[in-house]
Amino acid sequence: MTQTPRSIKILDTTLRDGEQTPGVSLTLDDKIEIAQQLNNLGVDVIEAGFPSSSEGERKVVKEIKQLGLNSQICALSRCTKKDIDAALDCNVDLIHIFIPSSPIQMKYAVNMTPQQVLSSTVESIQYIKDHGAKCEFSPMDATRTETPFLHQICQAAQDAGMDSLNIPDTVGCMIPKTTFELFKNLKTIIKVPISVHCHDDFGLAVANSLAAVEAGADQVHVAVNGLGERAGNAALEEVITTLHVVYGYKTNINTRLLYSTSRLVSSLSGVSVQVNKAIVGENAFAHESGIHTRGVTEQPLTFEPISPEIVGRTRKLVAGKLAGTRGIQAELNEIGIHPNNTQLTEIVQRVKELGDKGKSVTDADLISLTSAVMGQVIGDEKIVDLCDLAVVTGIKVLPTASVRLTLDGKEYVAAETGVGPVDAVLKAIQKLTGNLEKIKLSEYRLEAITGGSNAVAEVVVKVEDEKGNIVSARATREDIVMASVEAMINGINKCLLKNRRSNNNNSSQGKKQ
Ligand code: KIV
Ligand code: ZN
Repeated sequence: MTQTPRSIKILDTTLRDGEQTPGVSLTLDDKIEIAQQLNNLGVDVIEAGFPSSSEGERKVVKEIKQLGLNSQICALSRCTKKDIDAALDCNVDLIHIFIPSSPIQMKYAVNMTPQQVLSSTVESIQYIKDHGAKCEFSPMDATRTETPFLHQICQAAQDAGMDSLNIPDTVGCMIPKTTFELFKNLKTIIKVPISVHCHDDFGLAVANSLAAVEAGADQVHVAVNGLGERAGNAALEEVITTLHVVYGYKTNINTRLLYSTSRLVSSLSGVSVQVNKAIVGENAFAHESGIHTRGVTEQPLTFEPISPEIVGRTRKLVAGKLAGTRGIQAELNEIGIHPNNTQLTEIVQRVKELGDKGKSVTDADLISLTSAVMGQVIGDEKIVDLCDLAVVTGIKVLPTASVRLTLDGKEYVAAETGVGPVDAVLKAIQKLTGNLEKIKLSEYRLEAITGGSNAVAEVVVKVEDEKGNIVSARATREDIVMASVEAMINGINKCLLKNRRSNNNNSSQGKKQ
């Protein structure tokens, strides 16, 4: 008889702990968009905010609750009537109350005695239950709380009627072994569901969360891209993928939406994802060296533990000095370019030469050197062409740009404002291409600038289509606005060409079968 896989619940705190990431501040609209995405993703609980912290925050939580999502909506609250009333006023499904329980935090963060902390906990839980709401209780800094007091406060909270307990590793000081033991012991006295909430101060948030699950935790607190206080919280995408793939457990998450969720949160929060981050980093499914690209084109499992589609991604073969012939051939074939053997050897040679000079080889570089070797203009086909551009900026003038361009020969005009002329002009271009072709800028870098007021600026951009395909392009000009525009238009053209070629390829392969 096959056993039903264990099922783990997910509470996402991107909108609460995630927003506590230094430098991150999300607008009401951003938060609504993220909440809707988390709901589509399938998280069980969305911690939407901390209503008593400001009027704006209360409005956010109320509005998210009013969206009528399938996910339960939770609000954070201290153990005070004022905070709990603010959460009750938002009519949320769950109130998450917390109070410090470690000696250091009781003394220096709230200046309370253990007895005061205990009675505040009990009174708060009873107050919430008297109002017919559900309550998750967190003894803050639980992992630095003396074990007898931790057990005492958890037991008191259980007796007072908490619906679930959360154990926060507030300063991320646990290791998997101690986490496992702590949860195993708590499971013997706590009969309501237990959550785990780990911070990543030592890079162990995901490992510790999984150790808690192994010991019997029922729910994991996570944040998209691992956002959160200081080094952040356990990353949603890493916890989910490991639970599904490595442990064979079940969650309600649609893993195919993990990547688009990560991109959305990265673009709205302004916190970019490191390229080598597991699951959602740009290189997580990219292969460069010859042996790897050869392996994955023969049998993907040679160098991929999971198929990228599971998490909503596609494999990327990258041209670079370590690249092999097979990888570059596959990359070119994918976009409908078929060099002969001699041409391919020459293309590989030139890619390696570029790499040896310390240059990263962008998609646009590969296409342009392939054009040169094959003696045909491949990449100059222009789907998008810039016709005209005007930018105004000044001390009392909001930087504004208007752009006229053609897309498939049809003319479009857009204007936008920005924090500076480059921002304004790139926004204006994206306004058009984003609406028409769902392509947006995912990264902008000013790579090099030579000295002097007539310096040469080198801009590298990455643009992304709605399927998450990323194309990089560069441009070098004396005028930084023009370098940015040229790189952006190059990137958009390459992205569109790549898509259209691979669509044509697929449809002609379909016909051959
Ligand atoms: O990390 C933490 O302790 C918290 C509490 C509010 C639960 O985020
Ligand atoms: Zn936290």
